[in-house]
Amino acid sequence: MKILMVCLGNICRSPLAEGIMKQKAVENGLEWAVDSAGTGSWHMGQLPDRRSIAIARKKGIDISDQRARQFQTIDFERFDIIFVMDTQNQSDVLRLASNEKDREKVALILDQTYPGQRKSVPDPYYDDNGFEEVFDLLDQACSVFIRRYI
Ligand code: 4NP
Repeated sequence: MKILMVCLGNICRSPLAEGIMKQKAVENGLEWAVDSAGTGSWHMGQLPDRRSIAIARKKGIDISDQRARQFQTIDFERFDIIFVMDTQNQSDVLRLASNEKDREKVALILDQTYPGQRKSVPDPYYDDNGFEEVFDLLDQACSVFIRRYI
């Protein structure tokens, strides 16, 4: 399974989603490839936000080896599933899709825990206290997803 996690900046939410899913895959002996990207280009090459690094570290996950990159059309070929964090990411990614096969790969990550509710992972960039909630939402969603494969 090849999974891509996508948010806006690729520094707050999707690096956490990548770290969490990777950790769960390893713990369950699954050889999955998990990566992340942002729809925007502002933070390309940067480390994850220090607040994401800190909350991940507190939960026993090291995400400090990650570097931000921008989502590219070729990612539709490279990945089986593209999990987007919010409905804006969803429309931005879908706009780059060339066919139905591409479109079918794109899913809101919180559809795992709240199917059909079109719930977004809140953007914690301007909210120092939002990172714990983001971590928990992503941890639950990744657990639900991986349960189908273990
Ligand atoms: P992310 O959070 O999409 O979860 O990485 C953001 C990071 C940066 C910005 C917005 C959201 N920004 O406006 O620079």
